[in-house]
Amino acid sequence: MTNSEKGLGKNLTNYGDKEFSKYLRRSFAKSMGYSNKSLNKPIVGICYTESGFNNCHRNFPEMLEAVKRGVLSSGALPIPFPVISLGETFLNPTSMVYRNLMAMCVEEMIKAQPMDSVILMGGCDKTVPALLMGAFSANIPTSLLVPGPMMTGNYKGERLGACTDCRKFWAKYRSNEIDKNEIDLIEGKLATTSGTCAVMGTASTMAIISETLGIMIPGSASIPSVHADRLRVSEETGILAAQMAINNSPKPKDIINKKSIENAIRVLLAISGSTNAIIHLTAMAGRLGIQVDLTELNRLSDETPVLVNLKPVGKGYMEDLYNAGGVTRILFELRKSLHLDCIDITGKTLEDKLINLQKENVNQSIIYSLSNPVNKKGGLIALFGSLAPDGAILKRAAATSSLLEYEGRAVVFSSLEDLSNRIDDPNLDVNESDILVLQNAGPSSNSGMPEAGYLPIPKKLLEKGVKDMIRISDARMSGTAFGTIILHVTPESNKKSPLAIVKNGDKIKLSEENKSLDLLISEEEMISRISKLTNQKNIYNRGYKKLYQESVLPATQGCDFDFLK
Ligand code: FES
Repeated sequence: MTNSEKGLGKNLTNYGDKEFSKYLRRSFAKSMGYSNKSLNKPIVGICYTESGFNNCHRNFPEMLEAVKRGVLSSGALPIPFPVISLGETFLNPTSMVYRNLMAMCVEEMIKAQPMDSVILMGGCDKTVPALLMGAFSANIPTSLLVPGPMMTGNYKGERLGACTDCRKFWAKYRSNEIDKNEIDLIEGKLATTSGTCAVMGTASTMAIISETLGIMIPGSASIPSVHADRLRVSEETGILAAQMAINNSPKPKDIINKKSIENAIRVLLAISGSTNAIIHLTAMAGRLGIQVDLTELNRLSDETPVLVNLKPVGKGYMEDLYNAGGVTRILFELRKSLHLDCIDITGKTLEDKLINLQKENVNQSIIYSLSNPVNKKGGLIALFGSLAPDGAILKRAAATSSLLEYEGRAVVFSSLEDLSNRIDDPNLDVNESDILVLQNAGPSSNSGMPEAGYLPIPKKLLEKGVKDMIRISDARMSGTAFGTIILHVTPESNKKSPLAIVKNGDKIKLSEENKSLDLLISEEEMISRISKLTNQKNIYNRGYKKLYQESVLPATQGCDFDFLK
């Protein structure tokens, strides 16, 4: 079997003659100017996601040079190869639809090409989960290198960071607090450097989770994109990946297990991370045969305090987290509840990494101590009940506390189009005590589970000063958003489900304490309404999107494809 070979002799193209296959491959490799000495080395594949449609990866050319330097200095040959790139704001209908396509691309290209270890370079939102899902399935020695977060900008003395502040100022513009000139001026100050969004959005959350899982160099998740340390850790990743290629180092299946996934969930709760991370972590764990259980999430959430004070829940930005000690410091604070025997790609246990950390020099306004947390309970919880029999997610840390035990009247929008047509209609029958409900925005819907769960407050209520309302949907929400937003309702409303049968005027009850979400109609009425439903028709009849709609699993199973688990 060719895979027992190292370097260029792996994964040979099949011409029916192995020696000829090797000969032909070396001949063609020589057309790229490689010497025999280079071609005899183990190979580090570099899964590379630079794209003109991905602003977050703008610093990759410089990082790639540093990675190559590290690989070459340590006795292996670096070979970058492209996979698709998912620039969050450049994709229609949503980057989520393409996460699994990217994961398939990553898996197949790692498996098909000759490499002894792989460095995954990527960071924008869906990119990290897609890279890791693919690499976990391919299961060769793997290290992840993210671009790092953006630095903040400044407007009239106020720090700005994508994209919590994008939403904040857009809401001000919608409520006429600022005018068109001002919002246009702010547009150029929100995302001012390379790197991923500057707050605790999905990209930051996934980078932190990845570091917790042990799949990247310790301490590297929060290094700002433009910091020299970002280049140094790129070189270090190259050095480590070369050693991994030479030494048959541990593979993802040797590093990631139920315990490290539990550590990642604890950290997700302590950073009050993006709700999207639950879906992604479920999909990533699913590739390794590990199940993420939402009732277990609730147990961990009740005993894991929020320690990190970053937007959208708190005040700081990712650069502050780096200066306060980064992920290592968070792990140190949480150490008593973590599984310290989990190893990372350097071969060290979590205990080894934390043993020499001291309490001094910590900015406790960014990373709080366990004895004085930002919040006593974890940032995310799952809700269950007659409206969400299989579960829904609430980021309670970003919610308005007075809305957490609440009963209200539903105002229903049947689709995104319906929402955009009517939300600002002055005649819309809505008041501030109502609950906004959006249907047909789940994983298999025609809109592909967009980050639309942060339904806009109707303009007439905004103008009255209403800042938050309960909003419920089967959609997702950007990790940079905030409010009392209930997401990922499962089963989704594209299927025969309770969410699909909610009508205007129905009463809905939320209880954070009971972790429940109920539609207050009788069981008979529920059964009768559901029996009259028909499944929404898929609109895609060819190509990848057809495959997506037919194969995507519910949010509670990570929205992976049924044939990829
Ligand atoms: Fe790339 Fe936010 S747009 S991480």
